[in-house]
Amino acid sequence: MSSDGVNTGRRRFLTAATSAVGAAGVVGIAVPFLGSWNPSARAKAAGAPVKFDISRVEPGQMVVVEWRGKPVYVMHRTPQQIDDLAKLDGELKDPDSAISTQPAYVDMKSRAIRPEILVMVGLCTHLGCTPKFRPEVGAVDLGGDSWLGGFFCPCHGSKFDLAGRVYAGVPASTNLVIPPYTYESENVIIIGVDEEAA
Ligand code: FES
Repeated sequence: MSSDGVNTGRRRFLTAATSAVGAAGVVGIAVPFLGSWNPSARAKAAGAPVKFDISRVEPGQMVVVEWRGKPVYVMHRTPQQIDDLAKLDGELKDPDSAISTQPAYVDMKSRAIRPEILVMVGLCTHLGCTPKFRPEVGAVDLGGDSWLGGFFCPCHGSKFDLAGRVYAGVPASTNLVIPPYTYESENVIIIGVDEEAA
């Protein structure tokens, strides 16, 4: 066999190996967000709005709803948690949500249509990791007394309050994203449909 033949064969193998690694890399990144979804289910849901009954979420709790292959955090904030949002302005990069990472129809402080229900894309605005829900007031590892509950991204340490507003001094530069959503009824939201379009 000529050396050319060997090299061609090797090149083919390397191309195939590179493609396989590339595909595996995509799967590896996607797994935490998509769970056990198969491609057909993902394709089916690619553009579809998602309805969710918020009465299933107790005050202080958060659940994750999948929409367009992304985790959407739905949290029921307590009156205390809503009040605490006003105490954090001095510690945040963009407390008034001046940078547009939310629809215009949400309140810019609570970043919600109704202050008690937060609906937010659970992907860090730094490099896309999934921030952890850390509602414990005073968590020692997150600043002790100054921590009033929020979200912590374990990848590079970005911190967000319970409205998804980013703290100063962390890698993420913008607040977490609020998706389009609307209330279909008292207890049912539709994620993926704008308020005025409903
Ligand atoms: S991806 Fe969240 S801090 Fe880097």
